[in-house]
Amino acid sequence: MEGRLLATTGHVKALVQSHSSGDEARFRAVVHELAEQAARNGRRRDAEEVRGALAERPPREERRASTRSAPPEPPPAPAPVVQPRGELGRVLTVSRPEEQLADLALSSDVMARLHRVLTEQRHADALRARGFEPLRTLLLTGPPGTGKSMTARVVATELGLPVFTVRLDAVAELPADEAATALTLVFDLLAQARAVCLFDDLDALLDADGGERGGGERGGGRLREVLRRFTALLDADASRGVVVVTTNRPELLERPVLRRFDTVLDYPLPSTGVVQEVVLRRLRGFDLGGVEWPRVASTASGLSHEQVAAAAALAAKQSVLDGAAQVETAALLAALRERRQVLRMAP
Ligand SMILES: Nc1ncnc2c1ncn2[C@@H]1O[C@H](COP(=O)(O)OP(=O)(O)OP(=O)(O)O)[C@@H](O)[C@H]1O
Ligand SMILES: [Mg+2]
Repeated sequence: MEGRLLATTGHVKALVQSHSSGDEARFRAVVHELAEQAARNGRRRDAEEVRGALAERPPREERRASTRSAPPEPPPAPAPVVQPRGELGRVLTVSRPEEQLADLALSSDVMARLHRVLTEQRHADALRARGFEPLRTLLLTGPPGTGKSMTARVVATELGLPVFTVRLDAVAELPADEAATALTLVFDLLAQARAVCLFDDLDALLDADGGERGGGERGGGRLREVLRRFTALLDADASRGVVVVTTNRPELLERPVLRRFDTVLDYPLPSTGVVQEVVLRRLRGFDLGGVEWPRVASTASGLSHEQVAAAAALAAKQSVLDGAAQVETAALLAALRERRQVLRMAP
């Protein structure tokens, strides 16, 4: 990963603990150590960025003053964006995404439900004061390329939080006890510092033996054990983080797993109107005045948001290379057909 720092799990824990307990001196000492380590390893830019981030941090008194009117138990601060190493680093990536809600093209009902999650999260204190928990654990289902992972990043941007992306395919490769330890560490981190935690592609815990229920020789029991552990941790999680789990195959999930989630959002392939929105969002700043949208939408039928966005980029690049002011319908149609052809080649 670009800009990867040589932080160990110990560093991450020390940062999170010192941050949560308000031990400013320790927090700064760990950050300085990280910066120095980066400098020693020839990563001067990383070192400067780390020191710069510390300099931007307002003094402790100022931060206290800004939270003076906060409720007695302020939520944990957003997690620092430091990439863990060691056992955690193999399965967890920490990032600060930039995608915004305006970049997402979704059907109106999925968008409305996403708004609901964001609103509840933004007013979490008011809800908790009256004994309610905001919507916090989301299961996103749907075909590939429809914006499930992107949604987790958008939620993080909108709430000003970093994203912990947990690669469940990497977790599935570990022996059951190591997988359980890795998952426990992730939930420990989430309890200590606020973040959006994306458990990407739950299918990885279901697929290896043809499904959770399949049993079988090839590690089916082991994966089932990991899934059980994950479900138990999800159940016990009382953090202030947002948990997003994605899957292409919700039909493999049994009711006890499904009912753990506060809400389930199903992402369909884009409808006619959404196809237009995907193109408009991907090609902001281009002249699309002459585009015949009905033809574009019917040619895009059956393609995912991702494929439509890729086709839009292909067509726009052509117009840049041709020095043309407009993106033409014909170029969009050709690019969509090309994307479809590429997909047909897949096994
Ligand atoms: N709803 C959407 N609106 C705008 N762009 C989208 C949308 N969905 C996908 N894209 C584009 O496609 C890329 C891939 O989408 P994403 O990774 O979110 O798909 P996914 O649903 O998680 O797929 P998978 O099931 O394969 O993991 C995004 O980074 C974005 O560029
Ligand atoms: Mg995804």
